[in-house]
Amino acid sequence: MFSVGIVGTGSYVPEEVTTNVDLEKIVDTNDEWITSRTGIRERHFAPKDVPVSELCYQAGLRALEDAKVAPEDVDLVIIATITPDYAFPATACLVADRLGAKNAAAFDLEAGCTGFIYGVATASQFIATGMYKTALVIGGETMSKILNWEDRSTCILFGDGAGAAVLQAVDEGSGFLSFELGSDGSGGPLLKQPAGGSMCPASRETVEKQQHTVHMAGNEVYKFAVRIMGEVAVKVLEKIGLTQADVDILIPHQANIRIVDAAVKRLGISPDKVIVNLDKYGNMSAASIPVALDEAAKEGRLAAGNTIVMVGFGTGLTWGACVLRWTKAGFTA
Ligand code: UT7
Repeated sequence: MFSVGIVGTGSYVPEEVTTNVDLEKIVDTNDEWITSRTGIRERHFAPKDVPVSELCYQAGLRALEDAKVAPEDVDLVIIATITPDYAFPATACLVADRLGAKNAAAFDLEAGCTGFIYGVATASQFIATGMYKTALVIGGETMSKILNWEDRSTCILFGDGAGAAVLQAVDEGSGFLSFELGSDGSGGPLLKQPAGGSMCPASRETVEKQQHTVHMAGNEVYKFAVRIMGEVAVKVLEKIGLTQADVDILIPHQANIRIVDAAVKRLGISPDKVIVNLDKYGNMSAASIPVALDEAAKEGRLAAGNTIVMVGFGTGLTWGACVLRWTKAGFTA
């Protein structure tokens, strides 16, 4: 089995910025409430005619450039998203085609905001076994397309963007050291898009009732999030004999600063080790963690040998975490 790591990252957010004050004009809310209850100050929204594949393409291109990998050398493209271009074909196929990744298998993966963690865990297995050499994993969302602009408890939370990582074999002892994934479908009703699938196909009625938008029991998801983030981070470290004291950098899912702060406090990790960018982007679902990872890498916050924990939760319910010993050097042995 090969050790697997991230050898390049990239991200992309649409240009247009929507501030909390901008939202005050379309829904009954205010900057003070949003900032104090969520930590979010602004978010980026894609124009109406820009699909998620465009954001994923841009992020993927940047990650391949960063890794110095040619598109034709990519063996696998996985896109984690809950806002695909279409129910089918898979957005990953469209993005692989645009990138010129002619030799790649491609599929979408749906695990909500945990999607990027599920994605790198999945891609790692193909590389660890030697089946593939290079995988491109992208978390991308256009949440703006599925928001109910009359529901102030959800529409103020989300943003659009994409983050990508190139995975290859790396020297033993670096790269991904452990993964922990989980799910509990009994919590599915807490966070869902009720219509448009086979349970409730699209109809005039589903459109009129806003059933193609995000429906969330915010308080329930909040309690689950604080508990699970702490639990899964401890578990993924324990698996390899580490503790919170060994963590150099924590990259949590960027849903709400109060969730991040509560989880970090429970874990006893120093806040200066925690990457937070939700103030600028809101909750970008599957894109949150990879965009934060890419920004941290580009800002020089990740040093070779650092122990990084990425941890997320989302619809499903799902949760997941990984421990990554940072290196951007490929396999040298
Ligand atoms: O990636 C996973 C996706 N989701 C999440 O992670 C979200 C998890 N949940 C949360 O982050 C929080 O539960 C929310 C931010 C969604 C809500 O915050 P809260 O502190 O739990 O507020 P609440 O739902 O208990 O509402 C408190 C009050 C209510 O008014 P009353 O009934 O006390 O008069 C709401 O109607 O705040 C009101 N409210 C708002 N007021 C101004 C709710 N949304 C807004 C708003 N602006 N946007």
